This record gives sequence, C-alpha cells and structure tokens, in this order.
Amino acid sequence: MCGIVGYIGDEEATPVLINALKKLEYRGYDSAGIAVFNGESLTVRKAKGALKFLEQKIATEIIKGSMGIGHTRWATHGEPSDINSHPHTDVSGSIAVVHNGIIENHAKLKTWLENHGVVFKSQTDTEVIAHLIDFHYNGDLLKAVQETLQRLEGSYALGVICQSDPERIIAVRKDSPLVVGAGKGEHLIASDVPALLEYTRDVYYLQDKEIACLYRDRVEFFDEEGQAIQKELTHVDWDVTAAEKGGYEHFMLKEIHEQPKALTDTLRARIKTYASKSINLEEIGFDASWAKAHRVVICACGTAWHAGVVGKYAFEHYARIPVDVDMASEYRYRDPIFDPADIFIIISQSGETADTLAAMRMAKKGGARIIAITNVVGSTLAREADLVMYTWAGPEIAVASTKAFTTQLMCIYLIALQFGSLRGVLSEKDLEEHIGALEKIADQAEKLLSNKEEIQRFASRNFNKTKAFFMGRLFDYAISLESALKLKEISYTHSEAFAAGELKHGPIALVDEATLVVAICTQTALFDKMDSNIKEVKARGATALVITYDDETYFDKTADEVFRIPRTLDPLTPILSVIPCQLFAYYCSVQRGLDPDKPRNLAKSVTVE
Ligand code: M6R
Repeated sequence: MCGIVGYIGDEEATPVLINALKKLEYRGYDSAGIAVFNGESLTVRKAKGALKFLEQKIATEIIKGSMGIGHTRWATHGEPSDINSHPHTDVSGSIAVVHNGIIENHAKLKTWLENHGVVFKSQTDTEVIAHLIDFHYNGDLLKAVQETLQRLEGSYALGVICQSDPERIIAVRKDSPLVVGAGKGEHLIASDVPALLEYTRDVYYLQDKEIACLYRDRVEFFDEEGQAIQKELTHVDWDVTAAEKGGYEHFMLKEIHEQPKALTDTLRARIKTYASKSINLEEIGFDASWAKAHRVVICACGTAWHAGVVGKYAFEHYARIPVDVDMASEYRYRDPIFDPADIFIIISQSGETADTLAAMRMAKKGGARIIAITNVVGSTLAREADLVMYTWAGPEIAVASTKAFTTQLMCIYLIALQFGSLRGVLSEKDLEEHIGALEKIADQAEKLLSNKEEIQRFASRNFNKTKAFFMGRLFDYAISLESALKLKEISYTHSEAFAAGELKHGPIALVDEATLVVAICTQTALFDKMDSNIKEVKARGATALVITYDDETYFDKTADEVFRIPRTLDPLTPILSVIPCQLFAYYCSVQRGLDPDKPRNLAKSVTVE
C-alpha cells in the first residue's frame, strides 16, 4: 500500500530518498515525507499529495545529512494530510519511523500510551510504533525495536532511525515487502527492488520478522529471537530502464508494449525442443506426481483472478480435471473443503497481496500442495509456496496490470497443457500444435500492437460513453471480465462484463443508446450465438465493437466496428484478445485527461485487507 525507503552512506540522503520514492509512487501517492539525520538532529518534512509537493517543499531549503528514511503513502488510517504523512516521530522528535502495513491492535496500544502520558499528533496506526520504541528505548535502538515488535499485531515493513543511535537504520518486515540493498559504502532499504537499482543490484530479501541493522559499511541480520544470522546476497539483473518509462508517455503504455518480450521470456525457458517439442517444468520442480491431483483450486484477486478464470477453462479443456476458481478475499472467509489430493494454484503479480497470501496459508494448512505464479522474485508468495513459476515480465509499475496478466496466462497454459499431457488427455501431436501456437503468440502480439492507432481512434470516438459492457462466451467471457476491470480502473467509466448468454436474464435492461458494447468473439463454435447477442444489444441502440480474428468476416455486417487479432487456436486467444482492450482502457483514460498510471483510490500492491 505504501512505499518505504532508507539510506545510510557517504552521499546526501535527501536526493537519494526522493529519487527512490519516485520509483515507489505506484504503491501510494496521497502524501509523502522524509526524515534525515544531520549528525545532530532529525529533520522531518512531509507534504500531502503527490511526491512533487514534497519536492517543492524541500526545494528551497537544504536538508543536510547522510542517513534518512522516506515514505510515500496510500492512506488506511487517517485522511491524507501533512500530519498523517510518514515519517512519524516520538514526542521528542528524536525517533522517526516509516511503515507500510497495518497495526491491527493500534487502538489498544494508543490507549495504553495515552495512559502513560503520550499525546498523539496524527490519526495513523503507525504513530504508536514511534512512541513504543521511545518507551522501550534505553540506549539500544535494536533492543527497543525488538521489544516493540513483540507488542505489534498486524503487518509491517519498518524503517527506524534515532538521533541517539546515529550510525544505523533498523529495518524489519512482517507480511509487507522489504528489500535491503548493499552498495559500496552505503546501504539502502526499499519496499521494492526498482527503487534500489540506481544504487545497487545486490540485495537481501528479508523473511518475516527478520531484522536488518544497516550501517554505512555493513549490514547485520537478526532472527525473531534476536540471534545473529547470515543472509544470502541476491544479484538482480534487471535493466534499470526496465523500471523507467523509456520514452513512453506512461508506464502502462510501455508495459503494454513490453508484452511480446515478456511472453517470449516466460515461454522460452519452459520449452524443450529435442526430438519433439515438449514442456519443461522441471526447473520449477514440477513432476508427474502433481498431475495426479483430484482437483485444481485457483485462488487470486483482481486481474490475477481473471487469469484464474481462463485457467479454469484451460484445465478443464486440456486436462479434464475439475477446477474451482476462487477470489482469495472470499475463499479465506469461507468454510472450504480441503482434500490433500488437491493442488492449489495461487496467482499474484506482486506475491504480496494480503488476501491471496491468507488463502494460500489456509490451503497449506489444509494439506494442499501449492504452485505460485508470481512476478516478484523473493516475494512472500514465492517463498511460502511449494513450487514457483515466475512470470518473467520484469517490474510492472503501472497500477493497472497488463504484462503481468498475459504472462500469467502463459504460465497457466503451460501448466494446463503439461497436466493434459501427463494425464494422457492431450496427444503428443496436440501438445506440439499448442506449443507451436504459443511460440508464435509473441510475434502476433507485436503485430497487433502495430495497429494500436485503430484502437486509439475508436477510443477518441467513444471515450465519453457513460456505460461500457464487455461480453463473450467461455474464454472470451474471462477476457470480458478483465477488460471491464481495466476500463473502470483507469478511465472511471462504468463498465461491466457479462457472459453473453446471461444478457437476456437481466443485464439487457441496462442497454440503451448511451451504451458501448464490446463483444469478444473468438470461440468459433459459438459465433452464431454471439451474433444473436450483438443483434440484441444493437436493437436497443448500443454501439457494438467486435474483437475477432483477422481473417474472419462473420461479424462484418452485424458490428459497428471490428478490431482484428491474429488467428491462433481458440482456447489461446485470451493472450491476444485482451491487448486491444488494454489499449482501449489506456486511450480512454488519456482522452479523459487522467493519469492511467495512478488511478484514484487504487494502489499497486494491496498488502492490507
Ligand atoms: O499483485 P496481485 O496480482 O496479487 O494483485 C491483485 C490485484 O490487486 C490486481 O490484479 C489489481 O486488480 C490490478 N490493479 C488490476 O489491474
């Protein structure tokens, strides 16, 4: 939800903190702040609004000091305001804390602290942490933090500095991400790797409740019991520009364009091409025992859940295995039935979504085996799952997920096809045909993107429609769900998705002249059904855009406009058919004068409930 950073080294901390926060603004952007130690005292500066307001505030004054922490916020407790922005300090202003997460027992702790004479400045849950550290501080900041942690319930990634303990930053995490960067003569913390890339590529991933003490020249780690531990250094080989806009106006457009490469990267390592083509999932530890499952349960949130809906159709079709697909936020509070012979596929771009992690932990407790599909190496999901299949999409910065989604689909198809092959449902020939089609898909996505102006023109004619409905059947229904979410997220258009056959059971009552209907039509056996549905909405005054194959004329007479995607096998179309819908959402957002990268009320990573 929020982004935290910290720096200790020989450079001035302020520009490093601001620069690193810029890379984390996608995590929250309703206010920001820094605290910097100048050798004598802490200076704290905070500002409501985007990071640029903090920058303006500090532009006229030099905040000197080579150790500091920073924060960009997505409000959970207390409205966005200067006061509620982080860092938060103790009463004397000598201890400063930045926090990402939620302290669930903060109300109880606040009352306790108030009874001990503390006067609170903000309405945040975080402020209790600064006061508790102060309460426990007796000349040893590490000990004070350790004692404070024992009293906290909830999730946190914390950066703490103290003017009486001026040589180190203390950092710790539980259920919120935190990475430690190791540079030459400097150390950093950040909620996500892109914030560190300009300074170092050598990082340590903290496990839950591990504490890091960062000094200029070294970093020390401690486990939950306070025992010193050694941690493995990971070298990140992402390109710095992968986390920057690289000439595109927005991250979202850049990420839409990165899909062909991301798809290739995700597929390449998983295909064997010796005598015949086959899928190689051995690198992730997948063997024939996995395919003996009685049932597959797919759990995720938002866009990742839509990848799961595609997964249901794919697994049932290719592997003839029962599949349940669940929203993690529902699953975790249901009374689900576990069978140790189930396998769970948990999908999450960030690998840190609170509901998704909770669902995974429930399934694990119930005895299920877990396959994680995630984009973030070292994320909590990756660490806790039995098997991890990474979507090699590179950092996804825009709040609206695009390349993470299509690479999630790629992973889902590979697992479903492998299941089908191991269960004897798919013949070698069928498998080869599908691998061949998947191998072509990156080029087809590239071709499709080269026609993006068509979608741009369509968006400029339709961006001000007050209602947009997406409809389709089977795999096209799954993409309708994803397309409607994308449009509502970044253009704030009221958009909904319907299984086209459901239209006449209610939703058609909403259709009128102000309605745009996008009909996704790639399931050949159901073309006649879709054609009837399009005629039904057109008869009520709607404008109909059809997305279908480039060599298909079936809908030419029915549709107002047709956008064409390259032909592939019907079940694989989601990877392609979603792209025009992503572009449509993007261009509608831009036409409406909005910032598609930072939609209102949303954050990239939903690490709280
Ligand atoms: O990081 P995750 O994939 O677990 O995130 C799940 C959803 O929060 C995410 O997909 C959300 O729906 C996106 N903003 C969609 O664009």
